[in-house]
Amino acid sequence: MRCDHTPAWQALKAHAAQAQGFDLRAAFAADPQRALTLSQTAPHVLADLSKNHVDAATEALLQELARQTGLTAHRDAMFRGEHINTTEDRAVMHWLLRQPEGSLGGDLAEPLAQVHSTLRAMLAYAEQIRADAQITDVVNIGIGGSDLGPQMAVQALQDRGVPGKHFHFVSNVDGHELAAVLQGLQPERTLFLIASKTFSTTETMTNARSALAWFRAQGGVDVARHFAALTANGAAAAEMGMQTTFGFWDWVGGRYSLWSAIGLPLAIAIGAQGFRELLAGAHAMDRHFQTAPLEANLPVRLGLLDVWYRNFLGYTSRSMAPYHSALRRWPAYVQQLEMESNGKRVDRLGQALPYDTSPVLWGEPGTNGQHAYFQMLHQGTQVVPVEFIAVKKPTHSLQDHHELLLAHAIAQAQALMLGQADDGGHKHFPGNRPSSFFLLDELTPASLGALIALHEHRVFTSGSVWGINSFDQWGVELGKVLAKDIRSRLRTGDGAGLDASTAALLKVLTL
Ligand code: F6P
Repeated sequence: MRCDHTPAWQALKAHAAQAQGFDLRAAFAADPQRALTLSQTAPHVLADLSKNHVDAATEALLQELARQTGLTAHRDAMFRGEHINTTEDRAVMHWLLRQPEGSLGGDLAEPLAQVHSTLRAMLAYAEQIRADAQITDVVNIGIGGSDLGPQMAVQALQDRGVPGKHFHFVSNVDGHELAAVLQGLQPERTLFLIASKTFSTTETMTNARSALAWFRAQGGVDVARHFAALTANGAAAAEMGMQTTFGFWDWVGGRYSLWSAIGLPLAIAIGAQGFRELLAGAHAMDRHFQTAPLEANLPVRLGLLDVWYRNFLGYTSRSMAPYHSALRRWPAYVQQLEMESNGKRVDRLGQALPYDTSPVLWGEPGTNGQHAYFQMLHQGTQVVPVEFIAVKKPTHSLQDHHELLLAHAIAQAQALMLGQADDGGHKHFPGNRPSSFFLLDELTPASLGALIALHEHRVFTSGSVWGINSFDQWGVELGKVLAKDIRSRLRTGDGAGLDASTAALLKVLTL
């Protein structure tokens, strides 16, 4: 049943009206167990949700909403390999990429066997490149899911990176980006990874062709050694002259593809063992999502919290604040994961929805955000839930720095909640501003894998309750089509048939 037609939705509306005066400070005073009952452990992650605008009654109603909208049936359909991506008629099986070998029978046995033979080949190749001292630079050319996941993860695990190799990520079609990277490279020392599920994305194809041209112009000959394609479209890769290819399947969505061949830069950086640990961490979170009861299921609790904030409390955005500089691309990664998945305005049958879906997600490493936009979080007119991520054990020995970092993270969450009374106005902090706090013991391949899978399933949960297809992305297509037309006009300035604004821009920018 559509979420807004369920009794639980109506009950939540009434509950939200009652909860208008909800105050975190009062909630903590009234319930000494709050920090405990609103904390949740899941594989590799501890989440303190107690500074959110919820109480046990809110969560119980949200879980009822999940039941009435069929969340678990939808989840189980995904894990059975049903074609829940209906507009593309595809299964959604990124989770299969981290499923242990031989652990599934029936129709999934064969795809799982293929996953593992491809994984073995890819990891063997990664080890070969790691051992190859002549290759000093690995350049990933890809965009969206073929860039954000591997880039975020290579940075996150930089301390485990293989010595003697530099990783570069080129995503933008803006030639400044590729030119700047190529400037420092030597063809015989470079491996280019052309990462594109479709092998048709304009930005990536343009960068790949230019990289190939540069390689040949510099006297490079051995394309098989210096280029590898990571793609679900082997035929298109072969057409471009790629001789080394690692494949994956149409049931892996681009923004869910880090676990596939798209993860090759990460596998080269952290090695086969590290990559397997990443998969194992994610698999542990898959099991948690599949088996934990709703009230103790962290991705479910988070996804439902997102629905509560978006639809009942009217919070339009969420800010991410990782207190670990290696997680600096985390906000960009989660942005695509959530906004491309759940930025939808129609239900699974294409009917327009009367309620809101994906919030706006944004953020920066926390310390930097503190000195930029936290002002607005503390004293602005909008309430923006904040998500802190802290890592207990650092990989450096600068203990002072780490203490300061953690102190800032905890204090910011505290300040948002407690506020500060001041009659003067300017120094008044209203407080009662919500936040969640994720704690990892260490930033390892396993904990990163679990953290990512947690967010994938959280997005699944809110998308499922909203009744949308979280696995297509038609909204990116129109601009691509129009760009083809504009490009052909850019040389002539021909604005015939265009709206006045577009025609004027074209005129100014005509080359
Ligand atoms: O245009 C959006 C998108 O299709 C994303 O969903 C995807 O991650 C990205 O482009 C890159 O696609 P590909 O891997 O096919 O080049």
